[in-house]
Amino acid sequence: MRTVTRIDEVRAWRREAGAVGLVPTMGYLHAGHVSLVERARRECAAVAATIFVNPTQFGPGEDLARYPRDLERDLALLAAESVDLVFTPSDAVMYPPGFQTYVHVGAVAEGLEGARRPGHFQGVATIVAKLFNIVQPTHVYFGQKDAQQAAVLRRMVADLNFNLRFIVCPTVREPDGLAMSSRNKYLDDANRAGSTALYRALSAAREMWEAGEYDPDRLREAMSRVLAAEPLARVDYVSAADPVTLRELDGGAPAPSALLSMAVYFGTTRLIDNILLEGSEAG
Ligand code: PAJ
Repeated sequence: MRTVTRIDEVRAWRREAGAVGLVPTMGYLHAGHVSLVERARRECAAVAATIFVNPTQFGPGEDLARYPRDLERDLALLAAESVDLVFTPSDAVMYPPGFQTYVHVGAVAEGLEGARRPGHFQGVATIVAKLFNIVQPTHVYFGQKDAQQAAVLRRMVADLNFNLRFIVCPTVREPDGLAMSSRNKYLDDANRAGSTALYRALSAAREMWEAGEYDPDRLREAMSRVLAAEPLARVDYVSAADPVTLRELDGGAPAPSALLSMAVYFGTTRLIDNILLEGSEAG
């Protein structure tokens, strides 16, 4: 018998399985999702994807009922990417009667998306923790597109000692810069044209950063200016935050790195986007 006192000793003892990469999704897959699957395919012996439109991460006024779905198309796409397993549970499988346990992540989940979508990250953390426990992956893949979600889940993985590698993949964009999203399908032609303002705003701030402007206030102003020039855009928030804690950066002092993010309504469709700026002279 082996007696151990440290978590890493427990992990080492645990029987070695092949590497399993997990890509959790809500379906209606696009090239962004596929990029995660491809990365998992390259790095893991087996790849599992999940498709589940998770009701607990939608607020009462949100788009749960009309969230786009096309399971047949999704399955064909995943088959073409040589995914080994797809898990498509029903609501009753994931939330059986009597369900009452939730994962609540603290401060990193409270600002930005968390402030505007109460309960959202608790729903995300809960379902993702359940999927991790069900699939027991060695590697998990998430998109930078949902930067706060990635930060929240990275925190959860550390705090709850999930034994896996947490990999964040770059945002895949349309040729004109719009970040791919299942929700883009809600946009009519005019709003679709206007929606390029998000990436234009982020790019303007990135150019300033690359030219040596590291003051978060100036970066926020630059993004707001571009968005204000787009008549169809209704800004929810513009942020320059610490990339790990997601705390808003103080203006007036250079930041070592910054997560620039925004949420903008076009009609009733709410779009989010972000970029990570690193390597300032203050860092
Ligand atoms: P969903 O919006 O379907 O996204 C699934 C994964 O794809 C997430 O990790 C998301 O960040 C990533 N993704 C979405 N658009 C992307 C893009 N343009 N480029 C790169 N990656 C992109 O995020 C969720 O589902 C849910 O909250 C989930 C984690 C599945 C929990 O229910």
